[in-house]
Amino acid sequence: MQRSSQRLNTSTSQLVLALETSCDETAVAVLRDRKLLASEVASQIAEHEKFGGVVPEVASRNHLVHAPRLLERALRDAETDIKQIDAFAATNGPGLASSLMIGASIAKGLAIGFGKPYLAINHLEGHLLSPFFGERIEPNVSLVVSGGHTMTVFVRGVADYQIIGRTVDDAAGEAFDKIAKLLGLGYPGGPEIEKHAANDDGSHFDLPRSMPDSENFSFSGLKTAVRYLLPKLKGDYLADVCASVQAAIVDVLVSKTIAAAKKHDVDLVTMSGGVSCNRKLRKRMTEACKQHGLELKTAEPWLCTDNAAMIAFAAILKLQTGLSSSVTEEIDPNLALAI
Ligand code: KG4
Ligand code: ZN
Repeated sequence: MQRSSQRLNTSTSQLVLALETSCDETAVAVLRDRKLLASEVASQIAEHEKFGGVVPEVASRNHLVHAPRLLERALRDAETDIKQIDAFAATNGPGLASSLMIGASIAKGLAIGFGKPYLAINHLEGHLLSPFFGERIEPNVSLVVSGGHTMTVFVRGVADYQIIGRTVDDAAGEAFDKIAKLLGLGYPGGPEIEKHAANDDGSHFDLPRSMPDSENFSFSGLKTAVRYLLPKLKGDYLADVCASVQAAIVDVLVSKTIAAAKKHDVDLVTMSGGVSCNRKLRKRMTEACKQHGLELKTAEPWLCTDNAAMIAFAAILKLQTGLSSSVTEEIDPNLALAI
């Protein structure tokens, strides 16, 4: 990201078009300042479900099919002509290389073609800022919890991030997905496990809560524990296992987030990413924050899973401070949020 050499209009209204194609969702959004004019998401769940996970080449081919259609629809919903767009943004990492390339190439092509700035946005920053969608960013400790990442971050302001803890193996969403697969449930696994856990308190099986004294997370031990547990079970155990898995993951996410907030002496906790859709997690985090005198701000459920509105929001925050990216900036599948 660089101070733009092009003259950016930072005072009046600005219109941003963003693409998100980091994994298996193709998404396009149009944002005027803080107001969302259009947000289109094409899910590829049906295409990947039969493989029990995302197949990169299938994902990128589908992005190519979906993106032009969504682009047209987003512009129509926003009642905007493409010539009126002030800047084009895309997720440039982290994610699947062949998927990232599609969205970034389209945004770069449009930026070059229409002579407008290009903004390369970190997918994690999109999630991280999404609880503030349309609002001013306040300092906070943030739990970003998705299929590919689990981290706590001290957010001082836009582009001022310090990672507190991160997973040393599987992400929480990945743990939900892999355990769901062991249980013969569909993909993505998080919503499936939540559904089967609905009427169970989660106390039946005492599953591991790894690394209790660390700021980092580890979920692969939980997956292994479930793998060894399943052959020993008889009868209808699905609800008990799902609820116990959910309880173990939620316990760890809540306790480490609260500890991080205390350590960094913030008043506000935020939570985003696909796993933050989970109702048990939202309930437990709400209770824990209340108990510790912390305010909690969560991304709305439609903003938790992958979408382009959060990418457009991060882009406009940067654009308004005069930042843009070079069209020579490459995608980075391992792009870090901060050191
Ligand atoms: O943020 P996201 O859409 O994509 C990534 O950036 O990874 O997150 C997807 C992840 C998947 O692992 C999915 O199982 C999980 O979020 N997820 C959930 C729920 N909804 C989605 N996990 C637990 N409970 C849910 N309700
Ligand atoms: Zn995501």
